[in-house]
Amino acid sequence: MQLPDKEMLNILGEQGIRKLTNDHYNLLRKSKINYLFPIDDKEFEQAKLNSSDFFIQIMGGHPYFNENRGKPMLAQRHLKFKINPSARIIWLECYREVLVNIELDEKVMESFWNYLNVLSMRMVNSEDDKPEFIFKLNK
Ligand code: HEM
Repeated sequence: MQLPDKEMLNILGEQGIRKLTNDHYNLLRKSKINYLFPIDDKEFEQAKLNSSDFFIQIMGGHPYFNENRGKPMLAQRHLKFKINPSARIIWLECYREVLVNIELDEKVMESFWNYLNVLSMRMVNSEDDKPEFIFKLNK
């Protein structure tokens, strides 16, 4: 798995990465998949913190996530949430909305986006709901 360019952390700094993930979570909370995320404000703030810990760590920064949460094993951690292909697209769109407002070298931006794109595929653990097929025997 190709990790994002470490330059991202050098350019934005820890605070910049934390702001990025906070903004992403704030958009998720207003999105169609908001039901997946914590309703309680304190839990929601903690979720933002866990997520930014992870991103700082994989960009070569301090291993906050390992310290606070243990091994990432993200696919496993996401199993308790029903993530279908549509949820993934919404999740990515919320990220895009945040990223378009950030000044970043194109190469650095692309490496981050590729990472999100590929890793998010691994979080998909269910299929989109299909309309129920109704077979009427008697007209
Ligand atoms: C594909 C769409 C995705 C959906 C719908 C989704 C949803 C969620 C939900 C509902 C949680 C639990 C609430 C929370 O603690 O934040 C969570 C946690 C988390 N997600 Fe995702 N996620 C997705 C993809 C990703 C991807 C691609 C990454 C990393 C690149 C990621 C990283 C994390 C991390 C680090 C946590 C915290 C885990 C923990 O501390 O136990 N997620 N995600």
